[in-house]
Amino acid sequence: MTTEPPSTPPATPDSITPSVPDHLHVAVVGAGRVGTAVARSLLDAGCRVSLSASGDPAQLALLAEIVTPGAEPKWTRDAVAGTDLVILAVPLHRLHQVDPALLAGRVVVDAMNYWPPVDGDIPAFAAGTQGSSAVVQEMFPDADVVKSFNHTGYHSLEPDRRPAGHPERLGLAVAGNRPGAVALVSAVVDRIGYDPVPVSSLAGTAFLEPGGPAFGARLTAAQLQALTGAPAPVA
Ligand SMILES: NC(=O)c1ccc[n+]([C@@H]2O[C@H](COP(=O)([O-])OP(=O)(O)OC[C@H]3O[C@@H](n4cnc5c(N)ncnc54)[C@H](OP(=O)(O)O)[C@@H]3O)[C@@H](O)[C@H]2O)c1
Repeated sequence: MTTEPPSTPPATPDSITPSVPDHLHVAVVGAGRVGTAVARSLLDAGCRVSLSASGDPAQLALLAEIVTPGAEPKWTRDAVAGTDLVILAVPLHRLHQVDPALLAGRVVVDAMNYWPPVDGDIPAFAAGTQGSSAVVQEMFPDADVVKSFNHTGYHSLEPDRRPAGHPERLGLAVAGNRPGAVALVSAVVDRIGYDPVPVSSLAGTAFLEPGGPAFGARLTAAQLQALTGAPAPVA
């Protein structure tokens, strides 16, 4: 007689420690300064990367070949399809051009900042006291928006990468409303070469944004953790 093995309950959407595939496929939407730096870091960490800009991927092909070798240029709708994670790195004043339906059900990293000299006056972002990612979440209600990468400069993202345990390793905040999404992005941040500092809500993340104490500050995880106002997790 064969005995059926005990069944494992399916992972719940809110699982705090989802199993993160070894070979992640990540879409980077926006192939500018931030998008290309993030894409190179992901490629170097062993991820497959699909890359899109605002137009025809044929026009992105040469840039991708030279600046992000290994990344696959695509239309945005094709870039995000079937990926494990989407990184948004477009100027916020262009974000309305990204179709929310494309991102429904996906974990989406908001690497963006509201920057009035570039973005102009956008009332929803200008008025925000909860941080710009809460507004981005409202724009993409069916996605799980996670705020990360926004508080580091594009020029320092790659040179500051360090292996786990390195004394100079810096922290990167990973803020989101859903624990499973925060855990997924935290795993990616760790693989890239930073200590993830989870923050359990998008609300109140203005400290990570331009003018906030964490913005551009190159902080260790402990220093960043102290700015979250939450007690450090027990090791
Ligand atoms: N610069 C920094 O150090 C830094 C650091 C952290 C966060 N940020 C934030 O990250 C965001 C991106 O900044 P950046 O400096 O990387 O900008 P950037 O160099 O101007 O690049 C913007 C990219 O977004 C693409 N894009 C524009 N509209 C798009 C659309 N509808 N769909 C897909 N792609 C689109 C552009 O493609 P096209 O050329 O085809 O228009 C371009 O590739 C901003 O919100 C910025 O505030 C910047």
